[in-house]
Amino acid sequence: MNKQELRKLIRKKRRALTPAQRHKAGRGLMRSLHHSPKYLSASRVALYLTNDGEIDPLWAIEDLWKRGKEVYLPVLHPIRKGYLAFIRYRPETKMRQNRFGIAEPDFRFNKRIPARFISIIGLPLVAFDSRGNRLGMGGGFYDRTLAFSRAEGQTPTLVGCAYAFQEVRMLPAESWDIPLQYIATDKQLTSLTDL
Ligand SMILES: Nc1ncnc2c1ncn2[C@@H]1O[C@H](COP(=O)(O)OP(=O)(O)O)[C@@H](O)[C@H]1O
Ligand SMILES: [Mg+2]
Repeated sequence: MNKQELRKLIRKKRRALTPAQRHKAGRGLMRSLHHSPKYLSASRVALYLTNDGEIDPLWAIEDLWKRGKEVYLPVLHPIRKGYLAFIRYRPETKMRQNRFGIAEPDFRFNKRIPARFISIIGLPLVAFDSRGNRLGMGGGFYDRTLAFSRAEGQTPTLVGCAYAFQEVRMLPAESWDIPLQYIATDKQLTSLTDL
C-alpha cells in the first residue's frame, strides 16, 4: 500500500468511531501521557484540537490547566508558508477558524513562543511504526517546523498521539521526516529512543 492509500484507509477508520469511543480513548490518551516523567514535569506542553477523527487531547489539555501548566496549540504561520507557530491556549482564549476550518487561537491576541522553548509537543498523526516514524496528513507542516530539532538535540520531546490501531508494521521514512521519541495511544505510552 502506498502512503496515499494508507492515509485514506486509516483516516476513514478513525472518523468512524462513535462519540463514546472517542471519549474513552481521549481519557486513555491522558493516562498514557501521565506515564512519562518528562510530561509530568514539563512546564510548557503543546497539544492540538482534534480534527478528522484524530484522538482527542482535550482531557489532557484540561488536566494540564488544572496542574498549572502552560498549554500551546499549533496555528498556521501567517507569514512562513507551510510552517506552524505555537500559541498559548487558555480556557478563555479567543479562537478563529483557519483556512482548513480548524479552530485556532487568534495569532494577533495571544502569546507566541518558539518551538524550542516548549518541553513536550504532542503531535497528531495518521500512522506510526515501532521505530517512531510518523505519517501525517501529507502537508509536512510538523516536519518543516521541527526540522531545527534534529540539529539542536532532543528539544522539544516529540510525542505522537494516536489510537493504537494507527500502528503499521513499517513506514517509509523520507529524508525530511522528523522521528518521534514517544508514542502515546489510548492504551499505552511507548518510548522509542532506546529501541
Ligand atoms: N523541512 C522541509 N523543508 C521543505 N519541505 C518539506 C520539509 N519537510 C517536509 N517537506 C515537504 O512536505 C511535503 C509533505 O511531507 P510528508 O512527510 O509526506 O507529509 P506528512 O509528514 O504530513 O505525512 C513533502 O513534499 C516534503 O517535500
Ligand atoms: Mg512527514
